[in-house]
Amino acid sequence: MHKTEIVLSGIRATGKLHFGNFLGAVQNFVKFQQPGNTCLYFIADLHTLTTLQSPEELRGNLIEIVKDYIAAGLDPEKSVIYAQSSVPEISELCLYLSMLQPLGDLERIPTFKDLIRKNPDNVNLGIVTYPVLMAADILGPKATFVPVGEDQVPNIELARSLATRFNNRFGDTFVIPNMMQHMIRVPGLDGSKMGKSEADNAIDINSPREVILERYLKKGITDPERKRASDPGDPYDRCQSVYSVHELVTPGEVETRTIANACRTAQIGCSECKHRLVDGIAKILEPFQAARAELSEKDDYIKEILHEGGKKARVMIRETTSDVRDKMGIVIY
Ligand code: TRP
Ligand code: SF4
Repeated sequence: MHKTEIVLSGIRATGKLHFGNFLGAVQNFVKFQQPGNTCLYFIADLHTLTTLQSPEELRGNLIEIVKDYIAAGLDPEKSVIYAQSSVPEISELCLYLSMLQPLGDLERIPTFKDLIRKNPDNVNLGIVTYPVLMAADILGPKATFVPVGEDQVPNIELARSLATRFNNRFGDTFVIPNMMQHMIRVPGLDGSKMGKSEADNAIDINSPREVILERYLKKGITDPERKRASDPGDPYDRCQSVYSVHELVTPGEVETRTIANACRTAQIGCSECKHRLVDGIAKILEPFQAARAELSEKDDYIKEILHEGGKKARVMIRETTSDVRDKMGIVIY
């Protein structure tokens, strides 16, 4: 990323942020807040409705996630922070875009297959149009740069081809967004990607250090072939949930490989290794948790941020939507 960008990313309000989101996504979002960039970060509450939860839960999660964002360093003075539903033009744009989107492509998209696998009793239309709504999120404010996890890549590709199709048919309207796929993958306690909804494998960023330590000690899968502390371990290939997190959080490890070498020569046991890992995690999370605690009772402040963010996002998206409406022949009388 070199020139000035319109950075945009969304997150569904399905639960709280976990340490994987924090390291892999939110810390990047914070870095993009530089002079020249316009950053838009939103809570995809409409996308959340595809896997309907209780209304109270949705309302509550949304506010809590914004508190996490702010405590992690997203600055409402530098970034536009909003709820997707605060900008009704996104839904309108989604409807227009859906007219240019062949159904077959939507049924082949991996996240579609994934969602119906997880919710076989609720294959609703919202799940089918999920990527089109994402395209509206991205194309509405003319985002140039979209940081997402690997699983979202096909959705971004769909947004790019929708934009191209529209531009070819109706003239230059949308900016074709670039994506960043290099978000760090943080393994969860079972070694698979942290935060997979069916696995209890995540580290809650608001947990106190002792709780995080206990979770790693009890559930963190290490090198399964290392039966005794005197057996040499394989940190790179066989250690499933600990070593790759050391590379992300333990200062100097990537340069010195101190822990990796101690593991391979059986000079460190997995329990001590986990203690050291949690030292690194706690060092990152403690300043965040202090800021987060300050916000715990400040729901009104968060609502104010969302209100102001919604107004700013709406100005950008309204303009594109009105252009699209016009080009497609829709007139508001
Ligand atoms: N589908 C994304 C996810 O589950 C969230 C999302 C919605 C999004 N709209 C977006 C991400 C637009 C990037 C851009 O993670
Ligand atoms: Fe993994 Fe550390 Fe155990 Fe080695 S010592 S297997 S890196 S937990």
